[in-house]
Amino acid sequence: MSAMKLTRPVFFVGFMGAGKTSVSRKLARITGGACVDMDTYLVRRQDMTIPEIFEKYGEDGFRDIETDVLKELAEKPDCLLISCGGGIVKRPENREILKQHGFVVFLFATADEARARINDLSSRPLFNDIESARAMVAERMPLYEEVADVTIQTGSKGVGALAYEVKAALEREGILVPAEA
Ligand code: S3P
Repeated sequence: MSAMKLTRPVFFVGFMGAGKTSVSRKLARITGGACVDMDTYLVRRQDMTIPEIFEKYGEDGFRDIETDVLKELAEKPDCLLISCGGGIVKRPENREILKQHGFVVFLFATADEARARINDLSSRPLFNDIESARAMVAERMPLYEEVADVTIQTGSKGVGALAYEVKAALEREGILVPAEA
């Protein structure tokens, strides 16, 4: 397939374990584009793991760093596929950045579906138990919906199927176009 390009940055949002990182990576491979995982970028920038950042600075400190990283990535001249941390929608400032700078793909998953996809809970300090995860999903749902340009139901679909579904939505919306266009 010939290379394609993005006309705006694309942000993937959704709960921990919804598949944001794997789907954006797969889509980058399919379209010949570049993707960045915010948490990976943040960990390299701080030279600390996410649990270490939570331990040292608390959730508020983590959110401050996350907002800085979001601003940095949103302003990059090349449009990227950006997978965001699940809590990116908590701050109104972040929601404004997402809406203003990019096209937002919401990968919808229930807490139970997300839990089934997560192999290693130790890297996610806020995923404590299924009850609190369900409550967190319910609390964040209106925030994801507020920023979403398109919502994709993940259910039990595989990464490849989801990547092609997102690709079709981006093409339909004029966000993903042939590179020569
Ligand atoms: C968080 C989600 C994590 C990470 C941090 C906080 C959240 O990212 O940013 O542990 O508040 O939902 P993933 O959604 O990539 O797991």
